[in-house]
Amino acid sequence: MGDPRSDEAARPHDRFAHAPVMVDLVVDLLREVPDGIYLDATLGGGGHAAALLDAHPGLRLVGLDRDDVAIAAAARRLRRFGARAQIVRAAFADLEQAVNTHRRTTAIDTTAIDTTATQGVTAVLFDLGVSSPQLDDPDRGFSYRSASVPDMRMDRSQPLTASEVVNGYSYAQLARVIGTFGEERFASRIARAIIEARPIHDTEQLADVVRTAVPAATRRHGGHPAKRTFQAIRIEVNRELEQLAEGLDAAMAVLAPGGRMVVMSYHSLEDRIVKRAFHDAATGGCTCPPGLPCVCGAAPTVRLLKRGAWKASEDEVDANRRAESVRIRAIEAVPESA
Ligand SMILES: C[S@@+](CC[C@H](N)C(=O)[O-])C[C@H]1O[C@@H](n2cnc3c(N)ncnc32)[C@H](O)[C@@H]1O
Repeated sequence: MGDPRSDEAARPHDRFAHAPVMVDLVVDLLREVPDGIYLDATLGGGGHAAALLDAHPGLRLVGLDRDDVAIAAAARRLRRFGARAQIVRAAFADLEQAVNTHRRTTAIDTTAIDTTATQGVTAVLFDLGVSSPQLDDPDRGFSYRSASVPDMRMDRSQPLTASEVVNGYSYAQLARVIGTFGEERFASRIARAIIEARPIHDTEQLADVVRTAVPAATRRHGGHPAKRTFQAIRIEVNRELEQLAEGLDAAMAVLAPGGRMVVMSYHSLEDRIVKRAFHDAATGGCTCPPGLPCVCGAAPTVRLLKRGAWKASEDEVDANRRAESVRIRAIEAVPESA
């Protein structure tokens, strides 16, 4: 029999070149969880999923992604795990339904694996944002580095595209999106410049309009001048922040006691939402003044595995540039009476 990884080795990442970020830390945080379901809410090419399934034989994967290209790549990469890896095309908003459907299916599918002890969700991973192939494939219209039709949809069946945001939104809508989701201080100037330049046909033209709208003195700092605007439009198109808040709540609701959840975010807007959700769950929403004993009856549902966030070391950034901005937070669900 050949090497079970030969499929992966022969076609390492031929059509889906995404190197997973900080795999060792993620696996270490999740390797001791009880046997059960491992919910990977951002499956991508399945890099983290493959590493964790290898490290923890008692886990069965329910892997979600809303991108059809990612789903196909993950299916190829995870084929060697057979019935241990279930892949579902779904968004965070449908996460609870996807897990429950999987539980019902495996409960009657007793031929594949003994599922009686493996119905609880004991590991959850969110590796947020876009994958490298989404950014690098010019047909997806995410990047300011190539000229393509502005698209930016992770789920290509949804109607809203970046072209509609850029060419259809009012000045007020554009300024709000760019200011809020890009944290861009020149949002108003950029929104005005976009409206004056319409119609905008490709991402290179869009990047140029943004660059010209930004004062020359500030163009030299903080990377490409269009980076924040592109991030903002992408967040708007994919409703990323609403999805994240819903996904975190749904994942915490299905996490079994002793189970762990790891979230990797890549910009401060995401990290703020994660930090707030974890803090609320770890305090049970306690409203008592800090420093005084809790008398409001709040009951924590999780404990933080670290007060702050893990960041990548210099070596990790050298090995994988995507690690540069990562912030990793992790919690463990506690029994109700704890
Ligand atoms: C950074 S990649 C994950 C890479 C993955 N950990 C790996 O090792 O290959 C993020 C993935 O999450 C998916 N994604 C982002 N937001 C999502 C959402 N709200 N619902 C479902 N999938 C989402 C994207 O389509 C993308 O494939």
